[in-house]
Amino acid sequence: MDRRSFVKASCITLTSGSLFKSLPGLSNVKPSGYVLKASEGAFSFDQAQPVPTRVMYYNQSIPGPVIKIPQGEESVIQFHNALEEPSSIHWHGLRINNAMDGVPGMTQALVQPGETFNYRFTPPDAGTYWYHTHQRAWAQLALGLAGVLIVEESHPPLVDQNLIFAIDDWRFGEDRQIDTSSLGAMRDWSHGGRMGNMITVNGQIGKTYTVSIGQRIRFRMLNIANSRIMTLRFNHPQTSIISVDGQPVKPYLVDSGVITLAPGQRSDLIIDITSDPGSNSPIELLIKDQVFPIANFEIDNKVQREQLLDSPISLPDNPANQMVLPNEMKQVPLHIGGGAMGRMNKAIFQGKEMGIKDLIQNKQIWAFNGIAGLPEKPLFSVKRGTAISLNIDNDNVWPHAMHIHGHHFIDDKNPAELRDTALLTRQEKGSLKFIADNPGKWLIHCHMIEHQASGMVT
Ligand code: C2O
Ligand code: CU
Repeated sequence: MDRRSFVKASCITLTSGSLFKSLPGLSNVKPSGYVLKASEGAFSFDQAQPVPTRVMYYNQSIPGPVIKIPQGEESVIQFHNALEEPSSIHWHGLRINNAMDGVPGMTQALVQPGETFNYRFTPPDAGTYWYHTHQRAWAQLALGLAGVLIVEESHPPLVDQNLIFAIDDWRFGEDRQIDTSSLGAMRDWSHGGRMGNMITVNGQIGKTYTVSIGQRIRFRMLNIANSRIMTLRFNHPQTSIISVDGQPVKPYLVDSGVITLAPGQRSDLIIDITSDPGSNSPIELLIKDQVFPIANFEIDNKVQREQLLDSPISLPDNPANQMVLPNEMKQVPLHIGGGAMGRMNKAIFQGKEMGIKDLIQNKQIWAFNGIAGLPEKPLFSVKRGTAISLNIDNDNVWPHAMHIHGHHFIDDKNPAELRDTALLTRQEKGSLKFIADNPGKWLIHCHMIEHQASGMVT
């Protein structure tokens, strides 16, 4: 970790609103439609000391533009591929029609260089989501192809500021260029995934949010990193969680100010600012016993209100919250094997049984139920409306962030929440329960993107 860079002072103050307006190349095609253009180019992660870094990005911005679309209404997002390689966009966490899910070779054809694809969908649930490439994501996502997507409530809760905190992890060389030589390194893929040495918040090193005493903030947090699990500490006693992975929860105060987000996960917070005027209050990333300030709340000298608002905010339920699980469920076992120190000596890959040497030749090192990569037959195939219990045995020494496309599920560990991405620690067993009510072919994979690439996908 480059600690100096983390703590480097910077005085950028961009709220989501101003960020949105200042983005180049973002234009409306329909009342609620956008154009997203993926390209290669240069971007500066440090506005105080700009260095042009070669990246892949949407609309020349990292993360891509914040897309805001209304709940329950159709939106069109036109994707234009100006890269020199094919791509696609996946709308992470949205329960939309299968043909718009953005998985090349499964729900659509690759969008070739120079081509355009119109994503047209109606999001049933409001909340905090994101979008990202689903093609060679181990490279394209690591180079920057991701952005925040907000499905707006018809009556959003009243707050003083809406802020976004999209946290990402980059592996830079000395020259502040992304270390592309390590993309695809099996040593990362067989361990915890490709970790970076630089953390950004909304694409910037040393992000500062300016807030006033007594303000009520809605704070949307997203982990858009390839593989790093982020444990974040807040220094605001009045911080509560109002939704996870887009879906409302009964609000609760954050325990000791610490929130963990696995890659792909989100949390919406309500923060009531209590600190003293003129003070600073960092958000810290905890890695083992080290503490890295990665963003800062700067308390200005204004007083928004003397007395904190005491009415707790809770979000209206989404249609997803109406899920009722029956007692009888189809039990689907999912064994996760492999990885470094995993003692996996063989697996099936593309229909053929292979020993570990051949698997590694094919860049495979993980297996679901003994199969590395997409199986010839789906993990399960059921009639619409079937209740599923995906019983995961994480039989290896690595944590994984299991993501199910097109559905939200209840993780046994925390039945009060609906998630689309669940963190399982080493050797952990757990069940993800949901109603398979969205017809089509859906992926299940680890959201440590290098694990997905090296076998953890079905
Ligand atoms: Cu956010 Cu298949 O992924
Ligand atoms: Cu994994």
